[in-house]
Amino acid sequence: MKRTIPPTTGLMPVVAAVLMGVAAPAFGLDADADAAQALAKKSHCTKCHSVDKKKEGPPYRETAAKYKGQADAAQKLLTHLTTSPKVKVDGKEEEHAAVKSKDEAEIKNLIAYILSQ
Ligand code: HEC
Repeated sequence: MKRTIPPTTGLMPVVAAVLMGVAAPAFGLDADADAAQALAKKSHCTKCHSVDKKKEGPPYRETAAKYKGQADAAQKLLTHLTTSPKVKVDGKEEEHAAVKSKDEAEIKNLIAYILSQ
């Protein structure tokens, strides 16, 4: 006869809680990843950026490495994402997309998320 319920099932919530407890500190800057990804999607950032793959723009991981240890990193990215500076996309100069939010806390969360990659 086949067992349908593995004996460890009762432990699953405990295992999940332990795993989350281990994963959370690795995240660093306390960013809310779901909210950050939702805002990036809404702002069409995902068209040109991903966490670790080069698209039109640098991967977030590369940006995080570039600004590592720089105290004004978040401020620089806030300017980058709210003032539409000129960037080269595919060799053509165009305005960088601004983040689609007026809520500074929401924008800062996205920046913390990018810098924690
Ligand atoms: C049309 C493509 C495109 C879109 C859309 C886009 N970006 Fe970019 N992004 C770029 C390019 C190209 C660069 C590189 C600019 C440079 O190095 O001069 C860049 C640079 C960046 C950087 C690095 C800035 C730095 O100072 O090193 C960050 C962070 C970034 N983008 C985040 C975002 C976010 C967040 C969004 C959504 C609001 C977004 N981008 C939307 C193309 C895009």
